[in-house]
Amino acid sequence: MYKIIDGKKVASEIKKEIAEEVRKLKTAGKKIPHLAAILVGNDGSSETYVANKVKDCEEVGFKSTLIRFGSGITETVLLEKIADLNNDPDVDGFIVQLPLPAHISENKVIEAIDPRKDADGFHPVNIGKMVIGLSGYLPATPYGIVELIRRYCIETSGKNCVVIGRSNIVGRPVSILLSQKGMDATVTVVHSRTKNIKDIIRKADIIIAAIGSPAFVKEDMVKEGAVVIDVGTTRIISHETRSGFKLVGDVDFERVAHKCSYITPVPGGVGPMTRVSLLRNTLIAAKKD
Ligand code: GUN
Repeated sequence: MYKIIDGKKVASEIKKEIAEEVRKLKTAGKKIPHLAAILVGNDGSSETYVANKVKDCEEVGFKSTLIRFGSGITETVLLEKIADLNNDPDVDGFIVQLPLPAHISENKVIEAIDPRKDADGFHPVNIGKMVIGLSGYLPATPYGIVELIRRYCIETSGKNCVVIGRSNIVGRPVSILLSQKGMDATVTVVHSRTKNIKDIIRKADIIIAAIGSPAFVKEDMVKEGAVVIDVGTTRIISHETRSGFKLVGDVDFERVAHKCSYITPVPGGVGPMTRVSLLRNTLIAAKKD
């Protein structure tokens, strides 16, 4: 029988740990951590993510600020706002929710964020530190995945790990973390140009699915006893929910689960862990002041 990796439960435990740290900071008369989020436009998924991030901040006792811009905002104005946040001593960490409208360069925006306030861990300085194993801010989703694996005591040393997807924010960084000393997995990254992709995935002891293609991972691609981590969160129209939408993962959960030793659900798997990583990065930033 497979075990569910309950990201919601683990995230809630970590939030309690963070809330305790915030209480200690308050008691010691120190500054309360402050996370700011910039949201451009009104993409449905982004709205939900940012609203949840703000809610998380309240739960652990952080201060939070949401800054909204219409989708017509110029790159210059957005870069100016980033400069303001870089220079605001009250803000410990901030994020710019992605994706951005096509006329704004995501790379320029990410590079404009002060690496010391980069709660998402997306800045090239933080990515570089991660690659060579220096301490810095780890990218939120990859850190969340690694923390789930650790807290469930899932063995990674010498295991065959296949990461599906090579995005800058999930696939590529998680492949680096898993191959590092301490995690010691043998990692293969597969993507849209990979030949014999099914055969490669079928050999995996651990599958990290991060391509954003609903139910891409099918029953015949998964080895008996594999660990499956589903990072996909595609928002589809649904009549089953009050909101009219539901989140679907990259794994065909219903048919795949019975073959796994461990599997993450969507929602309630990796998503809550991503949000907790942001809190962790902000707490570290606040403590550095
Ligand atoms: N869009 C999807 N995931 C993320 C994330 O982790 N951070 C930001 N800033 N945008 C995202």
